[in-house]
Parts: sequence; C-alpha cells; structure tokens
Amino acid sequence: MAAVEPSSEMLNTVATWIARADLVCCMTGAGISAESGIATFRGPDGLWEGRRPEDVATPEAFQRDPESVWRFYQARRKALISARPNAGHFALVRLAELVADFQLITQNVDGLHREAGSREVIELHGDVRIDRCTNCQWETRVEGAAERSALPHCPECDGLLRPGVVWFGEMLPPGAIEAAQLAAENCQVMLVVGTSSLVQPAAALASWAQTQGAKVVEINTDSTVLSSSADVHLRGPSGEVLPALVAGVRILSEPRP
Ligand code: APR
Repeated sequence: MAAVEPSSEMLNTVATWIARADLVCCMTGAGISAESGIATFRGPDGLWEGRRPEDVATPEAFQRDPESVWRFYQARRKALISARPNAGHFALVRLAELVADFQLITQNVDGLHREAGSREVIELHGDVRIDRCTNCQWETRVEGAAERSALPHCPECDGLLRPGVVWFGEMLPPGAIEAAQLAAENCQVMLVVGTSSLVQPAAALASWAQTQGAKVVEINTDSTVLSSSADVHLRGPSGEVLPALVAGVRILSEPRP
C-alpha cells in the first residue's frame, strides 16, 4: 500500500474502521516519543548511530563492561528528565475512551504512555527507570539520573543492579508477548505507530493481526518494511496524525441527533 499523506478521506476511512471495531490494538515504537524530544534508534541522530547495540544493549556487553552500559542508560534517563508526553500519547489516551475495547502495546521503555494516562500498557521491552538486581531480582523505580560514582548495588544482597529493560537476546517480560499476541489475534484494527518494524517479536504482531482479519494501519513519517503490506500507511508525525484520527472517531462516536 502506498504511503498516503493523511487525506481527510483516508483518515475518515480509518476512523470508521476504528469506530466499528470491538477491539482496537495499537503498537508503538520510538517514533511516537520523537516529538517529546526522545531520540529514536535508527533514524538520523538515532541511538544506534555511531554505536553498536551489542556494545551497550546485550547481557554480554553488561558482563564485559557494565560501566559503559550504565553510562548509556544513565544518558537515556537524563534525556527523560525534561521529556513529557506529546499529542500523540494523549490522543491514544482519548482513543481508549472512545472505542469499545483498546489494548496498547509499546516497545518503548520511556514510560511516556503511562505518564500521559494510558492504563494497562503492555511494555514489551521493560522500563528504563527500573533498577533491578542481577542476583535477587530486587527492584526499584528511579526518577531522574543522579550521577553515580560507582556501579549501583542491591541494598538487599549487594548484587550488581542493571536497568530494567530487555536487551537483545533476552526473553521479554513473562506474559507480555502472549498478551500482545492475544490482542493482535482478536483486534479488528491494529495501529502501528512510529516503529521501523524491524525487531522481533514485536514486529510480527501486525502481520499476525492481519492474518486474523484485522486492518493494519501504519502511522509513520517514513516508509518501513511494513508499509507495503499495511492496509493503509498514514504518512506523517504521530503527534499530528493521531489527534486528527481521534477527532474523526469522536465525530463518528457521537450519538446521532
Ligand atoms: N511520528 C511517527 N513516526 C516517526 C516519527 C514521528 N514523529 N519520528 C520517527 N518516526 C519513525 C521512523 O520513521 C522509524 O520508522 O519511527 C520509527 C523509529 O524506528 P526505530 O528508531 O527503529 O525505533 P523502534 O522501531 O521503536 O525500535 C524497535 O529496537 O533497538 C531496539 O529495543 C529497541 O524498542 C526498540 C526496538
């Protein structure tokens, strides 16, 4: 499907699909937080520009050089201090109130969906603000990014603490992908927002939904590997496209005079 600059006709078509759906599923990636000033991974100035994921986002990297890994995640925590949810995050909160049933799934670890007011967010890749013990699984949520002179250790067992995110090669949080797959299987519309659709198993959710009969709507500033198979690709920033889409759903959801 060619990318569609979100014309009012196409927005209305998608809004109609959403208004009629029993369950709407939405999967987001780093792109939805770009307008909050949070770097994406693979775009210009992305986090993987000039840096290899295997050097900072794998268990092996943490084993080999925990200081470097913690420097990477402390920098991401610091970037979050001034970040706030944007219009795209808030639009999804409103959408959940307008449709019969809504399931939000995110690959993001920035917590901005929850901060915007989304409930029951399936956080496939964890939460960057969590410190977790590598030994006893003790954990706590940390606000800010206070300078640390040494590697953090567990107050319970003195084990080394790690960020509460899922690294490449690790299992996702227990139950997360199963819940996401169930939602993908049962939805009538799957919105895929701000993701390059390159990382599994998240990337497979859209095609799984489509095989089960759902309409797949991609919202992205660029084309991706999903664009050709999506039913519709609404090209544009999610901070603009999502509010426009929700406005259309709201009109269709108002009781007929
Ligand atoms: N609105 C919509 N889409 C946007 C915007 C925007 N304002 N800005 C950027 N995008 C799109 C880009 O075109 C790109 O397709 O968001 C996507 C971001 O892709 P990535 O940087 O690859 O991020 P993501 O897809 O979330 O990465 C998935 O990879 O590195 C791992 O664990 C990490 O969760 C991450 C996973």
